[in-house]
Amino acid sequence: MLESKGSVLVIAGLFFFALAFVSNALVPAMMYKDLPEKTAEQLVTANLRYQFEDLARRFPASFEKHMGKPPEDAAAREKWLNEKCAESLRIGRKVYVGEACWHCHSQFVRPVSNESRRWGPVSESWEYQNELQRPVMFGTRRVGPDLSREGGRRSNDWQAAHLFKPTLLSDGSVMPEYPWFFEGAPDKPNLRGLALMTYLQWLGSWLESYPYYEEYTASSLPADAAPSEVAAAGDAPAAGEAAAPANPAEPAADGGAAEPANPDAAADTEKKEASNAQPTDAELEAAKVAIPGTKPAPPPTGDPQPAESQPSPTESKATENTNPPIDPAPESETPQASTPPAAVEGDERPPAPALPEALFRTASLLMQAI
Ligand code: HEC
Repeated sequence: MLESKGSVLVIAGLFFFALAFVSNALVPAMMYKDLPEKTAEQLVTANLRYQFEDLARRFPASFEKHMGKPPEDAAAREKWLNEKCAESLRIGRKVYVGEACWHCHSQFVRPVSNESRRWGPVSESWEYQNELQRPVMFGTRRVGPDLSREGGRRSNDWQAAHLFKPTLLSDGSVMPEYPWFFEGAPDKPNLRGLALMTYLQWLGSWLESYPYYEEYTASSLPADAAPSEVAAAGDAPAAGEAAAPANPAEPAADGGAAEPANPDAAADTEKKEASNAQPTDAELEAAKVAIPGTKPAPPPTGDPQPAESQPSPTESKATENTNPPIDPAPESETPQASTPPAAVEGDERPPAPALPEALFRTASLLMQAI
């Protein structure tokens, strides 16, 4: 029987089917059987809340019209924002599915072809252990770029203009226009537009290396960027500090109130504000440093570890990042400028996988190769 070509192929096919089942279904299921699936509410981290409130600042009229007005009381406001943010995530996901964004965009950075150099850390299975990935939005092909680390990569203004008319920002883009997410102009998003932008900013917001910068933009740095300044900043240990020279005009605008209280948050803010500008070498370095997955074994879930016990500078940066103040816009100025969102958790890693990481990696690499 084994002498015929056909039977060899059948046996090989069955073998690879079984291998795929083991590596892509059994192994992840065993690794994460004790990791509870997160709800949309639990996915609202400080990073995401920052972007959600940013929507309120950039599109105040639309935000109020479609989301309502936050309560005055600080605690009630926190709760309200968290709830609205979670609700927007759910709506945003529905829009993403309904408009078939997944038809052209994947949400999976594969461990092959140096994909992580372009999109950030390779995707891991725990990242899909949540309500918004039921079913998973892996996608099937990439007409456009992978979106699993899109959050924080572009500003909300960029996202709005891009959804309204992609060719405004990307010459010759084949991405369709979505004018029905807006009321006639890119600065007037409707509920679907606001929710979809929240969803896009969520993608990758659970990682410490958020936001990401595309490495290939390094080649288009303006020739007159002062090299000494960039080099000096490159020595700075924390990503937030390294970003400081990126946008020297900003501190004057909001420095007064924010800086003495929490200079790191202010630097972070600048970084976020400048995220649409050309990143400096230092920023690129900082983003790179944050990427490798060589972190100490994380604590068990349900018992979030305080930031101080995490040795890496990037880890503590993520916690400081709690709701940094941005523009001193009138409606957002006082109550929430320095109040960290109480119910928001910082980045949390799931427990160390029960099976050896190496086994899992080998299995998934093998599957990718097939
Ligand atoms: C016909 C295929 C297609 C569809 C459908 C599509 N896109 Fe795109 N998308 C692209 C292409 C191609 C690009 C790259 C060029 C550009 O930036 O416009 C892109 C770029 C993007 C980017 C920018 C990524 C980055 O950081 O550079 C985002 C965000 C995005 N798409 C979101 C969406 C969303 C949300 C939807 C659904 C509402 C969607 N896309 C539907 C093809 C598509």
